[in-house]
Amino acid sequence: MEALIVEGGARLNGEVTVSGAKNAVLPILAATLLTDEECVIENVPDLRDVRTMLSLLEELGVEWSWQKNVVRIRASEIKNPVAPYDLVKTMRASVLVLGPLVAREGYAEVSMPGGCAIGERPIDLHIKGLRKLGVEVELRHGYVVAKVDRLRGGMYVFDKVTVTGTENVLMAAVLAEGETILENVAQEPEVWDLIAVLKKMGAKIEKLDGNILRVSGVDRLRGFKHKVMPDRIEAATFLIAGAMAGDEVVVRGAEPEHMVAVLSKLESCGVRIERVEGGLKVFGCDVIKAVDMETFPYPGFPTDVQAQYMAMMSIADGTSVITENIFERRFMHVAELRRMGADITVDGKRAVVRGVEKLIGAPVMASDLRASSSLVLAALVAEGTSKVSRIYHLDRGYERFDEKLRMLGAKIRRVRE
Ligand code: UD1
Repeated sequence: MEALIVEGGARLNGEVTVSGAKNAVLPILAATLLTDEECVIENVPDLRDVRTMLSLLEELGVEWSWQKNVVRIRASEIKNPVAPYDLVKTMRASVLVLGPLVAREGYAEVSMPGGCAIGERPIDLHIKGLRKLGVEVELRHGYVVAKVDRLRGGMYVFDKVTVTGTENVLMAAVLAEGETILENVAQEPEVWDLIAVLKKMGAKIEKLDGNILRVSGVDRLRGFKHKVMPDRIEAATFLIAGAMAGDEVVVRGAEPEHMVAVLSKLESCGVRIERVEGGLKVFGCDVIKAVDMETFPYPGFPTDVQAQYMAMMSIADGTSVITENIFERRFMHVAELRRMGADITVDGKRAVVRGVEKLIGAPVMASDLRASSSLVLAALVAEGTSKVSRIYHLDRGYERFDEKLRMLGAKIRRVRE
């Protein structure tokens, strides 16, 4: 296993470019199952999750090649519409093949994501939505088995906003017979990137008032060429890094329109951010003000930036309350931040963060993807050396994170444990 060794205190300066968005490329890769024609995807980040999705697609019979950041991919035929446990357990987003497979083949078997059961932590809303389109779904030996003769349009209101749930049901609806109305759909920019791709493929999707999509099913879809949108979560992470440990850092590729909640929150904390050509410039902030924050579905503050924001609040001036509304138990980074001297208490979905003067370097362990980046951010400003273990989580979703930070001046290196 690999770890990162970070010497705290180095100032960040210069430019960093954000990669293509993980949460956009994963559904787009799944969408290639909807056509037998070649698809070309540009700006593909080299991430472990992307490699997992490609392995899964390969398992289904898809052929692909990857050069620089361009993936050429073709699902001429689906040899085996089964997403096995071994792959799905490493990445929940594997479930994104369910909708496209059942739309293309009328049959799919997808392993339930590890530890989940229908009704609990959950893909229950994906399944309910597919059922509304006429799909018969049952759970057999830990697999979701879905089959349908002919998908037909239907009306479905998501009980709760779900990003991959919206994407899954949408990818089935585009090939259904007749019209589908989906209400309370996720509004995340990554969903819109997928919609842009589906439209290029010939899908008929229209946004009605509110969070409603109208889909008019078509008989077949064609190949496409698409450049993946920049990763707004990675961009936010670098902005926070710049505010905490930087002098002046330009984050190229950051799309301010996708980051309104994060930018306004950072500004309330006293962080200065300017628009520059092709991105955003952040200035290091000597005194970061403590400001409460709650996560919400887009356009609210993203849960995927909660941990990084908490790292920043842990050295802020004053006390803040961070409320996590999307995922239960998404506070696993708290115990590790405390090991570095942060003063944080958790009560249910709220964390009270009392800013401390300084953090102290320590050995810490990454528990999930965004928790890992928050620990690196904390380590950048901590006094002394930190070791962040289990960074395979980080490599799932950040392309060359340590290398990009090193280019900005961070003292960070990767070691084998
Ligand atoms: C996606 C993102 C992830 C992000 C999350 C929330 C991808 C690949 N991943 O995950 O990075 O943190 O959105 O912005 O895009 N839920 C149900 N039933 C369901 C589905 C979800 O109850 O069938 C609940 C979840 O437990 C959670 C909430 O809905 O409480 C939102 O989850 P969801 O938007 O589905 O997250 P993902 O799509 O898995």
